Amino acid sequence: MTTRTPARPFRSREWFAAPGRADMAALYLERFMNYGITRDELMSGKPIIGIAQSGSDIAPCNRIHLETVKRAREGILAAGGVPMEFPLHPIFENCRRPTAALDRNLAYLGLVEILNGYPIDAVILTTGCDKTTPSSLMAASTVDIPAIVLSGGPMLDGWHEGELVGSGTVIWRSRRKMAAGEIDEAEFLRRATDSAPSAGHCNTMGTASTMNSLAEGLGMSLPGCAMIPAPYRERGQMAYETGKRIVDMAYEDLRPSKILTRASFLNAIKLLTAIGGSTNAQPHLIAMARHAGIEITPDDWMTGYDLPLLVNMQPAGQFLSERFHRAGSIPAVIRMLVEAGMLDGSVATVTGRTLAENVAQAVVKDPEVIWPIDAPLKEKAGFLVLKGNLFDMAIMKTSVISDEFRARYLSRPGAEGVFEGRAIVFDGSDDYHHRINDPALEIDANCILVIRGSGPIGWPGSAEVVNMQPPDHLIQQGIMSLPTLGDGRQSGTSDSPSILNASPESAVGGGLSWLRTGDMIRIDLNTGSCDALVDEGEIARRKAEPAPPIPESQTPWEELFREKTGQLGQGGTLEFAVKYRGTSNTVPRHNH
Ligand code: FES
Ligand code: MG
Repeated sequence: MTTRTPARPFRSREWFAAPGRADMAALYLERFMNYGITRDELMSGKPIIGIAQSGSDIAPCNRIHLETVKRAREGILAAGGVPMEFPLHPIFENCRRPTAALDRNLAYLGLVEILNGYPIDAVILTTGCDKTTPSSLMAASTVDIPAIVLSGGPMLDGWHEGELVGSGTVIWRSRRKMAAGEIDEAEFLRRATDSAPSAGHCNTMGTASTMNSLAEGLGMSLPGCAMIPAPYRERGQMAYETGKRIVDMAYEDLRPSKILTRASFLNAIKLLTAIGGSTNAQPHLIAMARHAGIEITPDDWMTGYDLPLLVNMQPAGQFLSERFHRAGSIPAVIRMLVEAGMLDGSVATVTGRTLAENVAQAVVKDPEVIWPIDAPLKEKAGFLVLKGNLFDMAIMKTSVISDEFRARYLSRPGAEGVFEGRAIVFDGSDDYHHRINDPALEIDANCILVIRGSGPIGWPGSAEVVNMQPPDHLIQQGIMSLPTLGDGRQSGTSDSPSILNASPESAVGGGLSWLRTGDMIRIDLNTGSCDALVDEGEIARRKAEPAPPIPESQTPWEELFREKTGQLGQGGTLEFAVKYRGTSNTVPRHNH
């Protein structure tokens, strides 16, 4: 095994052999040995395989990785590598205040420094909760060492009194039921806890399952990795195989730059439609692409718009991830899309084979969950990109437009897909919660709920707040959703067809900053336009008025984040960071 010659000399040799600097090799070696690793292991020329551990007690969605990495280590050792585990800055979507969006770029920065500054030749990226996947893949591109994604897998399907209850989605639906007076707080809690029956990340097609699915679609994990439920025995087996494979990738020098191409990102946009994936995939995919040196334009997003929805999972559909796994999972979907000519199957993947080769044997085992391309769950089910005088870019996930919503707002005879409504403007979510039931606002079915101050700079971080629920009196009349619009995000588990991620955001002078309650907004889904019907003179007059309030930064990172982060339409990246690519090509200088 150790007689194999790596395609590129292992960078760890620069530490543990330290040519010409035996004194430095001694310094680098000695302390690693204090936990029992031998000099031979470090000096014999084996690749050092980093394992970026994303799980911990405060990152419960990824906590399964405390177990999966044991099997990954065994795989690494069996294939002749040396495992070295280290922590990734924890990210827990549901709990992190004021938003976990602050953590994606922070975890990215930290991981870049570790991969760049330590003797690591290749890395397993343990992923799960929403932003753990993009932050890890962003860093892998910046450093550009061989990297492979190991998902922790979703939780088992949640059941409550004979009904499937999915992560997040159950929260949004139960909120409406509580507002309608159908359930009390105790029942709300029971429904929520029943949705989380085991270790793992969200079991809906929320952002976590979406991003793990897209990592697989990008060719960055072994086939089938995304959807194996965390507690299944296949998860441990996948971890073992991932550990074995990354050692070979180290020898082959199979780096992200050889896998992540424009074609693979366009594939991911299309796969996103077919699975009914999260609206958060828009900034995350753009961020991952930009760190890989690839620009994704609004037109590129529209290449995914015409594709069909195939996967019947909540929030766009009915089922949850455990059943999707048994139905054939992502490989079956990819195979269908490749064979229909909708995906480019020739792209490279971590297996060393093409995407099409990886899934050549995949089959659909449950047609209730994975629908055929010629009779899909929904036609033209992708993200619609909108623009107008309120923003340059926002998106709408069309696969979650319900029949009720379509009938009320988008089916006027002679003007299908066109809606005009009165804006009700909220400055952040506290303002929304304080005022949504205020009778003075006179909110009716012809209103559009607008939230601003919820983008990367305004919040800061960008918060999942755009899926605002109507006032209680409308819900009690059976009006379960109003059109919503905002410069923040919303949970990938939400079934609200919001217009969101509006860029530029209000806090940097985007159009939402001059919008006023009472203005009329016109949305035309046929042309992808969204405009406030306010004349230019009035807009200019309002722009001279004081900007809407945003909160002060509470931490140093919030201040730095605000200074360096771009808009969601451009991925919400640390703008200065995207120029760094392939940092591993230059080994940092010695530290003494
Ligand atoms: Fe972590 Fe959904 S909250 S995966
Ligand atoms: Mg989320």
